[in-house]
Amino acid sequence: MKAVILAGGMGTRLRPLTYSMPKPLVPLVDRPMVMHIIDSLPKEVDMVILAVSYMKDRLEEYFDENDCGRKVVLVNEDTPLGTGGALKNVSSHIDGAFFAFNGDVLTSLDLANMLAKHRSRKGIGTISLWDVDDPSAFGVVGTTADDRIDVFQEKPKRGDAVSNSINAGVYIFEPEIFEHIDDGVVSLEREVFPRILGKGLYGHRFEGYWVDCGTRESYLRAQSTLLSNGLAAIHECTFKGSVKMPGNNYLEGARFEGCTVGPNAVVGKGAAVMEGAEVSDSTVMEGAIVGEGAIVKGSIVGPGVRIEKGQIVGSTIIA
Ligand code: GDD
Ligand code: MG
Repeated sequence: MKAVILAGGMGTRLRPLTYSMPKPLVPLVDRPMVMHIIDSLPKEVDMVILAVSYMKDRLEEYFDENDCGRKVVLVNEDTPLGTGGALKNVSSHIDGAFFAFNGDVLTSLDLANMLAKHRSRKGIGTISLWDVDDPSAFGVVGTTADDRIDVFQEKPKRGDAVSNSINAGVYIFEPEIFEHIDDGVVSLEREVFPRILGKGLYGHRFEGYWVDCGTRESYLRAQSTLLSNGLAAIHECTFKGSVKMPGNNYLEGARFEGCTVGPNAVVGKGAAVMEGAEVSDSTVMEGAIVGEGAIVKGSIVGPGVRIEKGQIVGSTIIA
């Protein structure tokens, strides 16, 4: 079975970080975002197809250098084709029902279970669904009593949404879906879904967690979710003086001197947090330095960035 990962977006909401790396390669706790998806695939998925465009060379390089235990094929779009166009662009690799993923969602969804349900319903597609308080930033669905999707609204105005159930960005489709995607730039959510509602498009609800990592706030929420779901760890760090580490953190190959890290801190290889500094609800990526007495809160600090002595960094992305 094949899995397609839509990985060609420009990651505009994670700028300036995504000026130097594509969103799927943005580190999230212990590995790039896209690897959390690949590692969650059921055994029967033997090929991963990445639909790429923005910074495809960086993705190519990553998969050349890292074996992820499955065959990985990158399919490029010279100009981004949208989520539907990107899917159609990989159709020559598809030979049966397949998984498709937005490359920036993280879930506890049991994919084997979703597949069993999809097969039993015999529809053209199954969309994973998750309930949120404010659905206006997402695709919103209306469903019938037997979980058939009868309304799909992409990013409706607040108040216009038919429910609080959103498209969680994990799909299973039959190859028949390609017959409903025109050539060129096509949005799966705005053009294709509304058109195939009568063809057996079903919703699949699940328990556990779901986070979209496409904005600073949601990225940090995803980080904290992963840290409290078993990924908190300390590997090969050096500590000098009294270092306080409240809450769940992931610290790898970094140096800490008389500082406070945590809760919800991730500090990467070769990074350093100096005397009197505080890092909480933040990521400090590889090789970045947090100077003496600096405070980093609710922020993403990109690779190699230097936070000066006494600098205060709050609710921002620095790269
Ligand atoms: N290959 C390719 N080409 N991929 C693309 C393109 C493109 O032109 N445009 C977007 N993508 C990829 C992005 O990289 C991302 O992984 C995924 O498609 C979804 O795009 P986003 O830009 O992240 O969309 P969104 O977050 O605003 O909304 C989508 O996700 C929500 C859940 O997180 C929609 O699918 C919503 O309906 C959904 O609720
Ligand atoms: Mg997104």
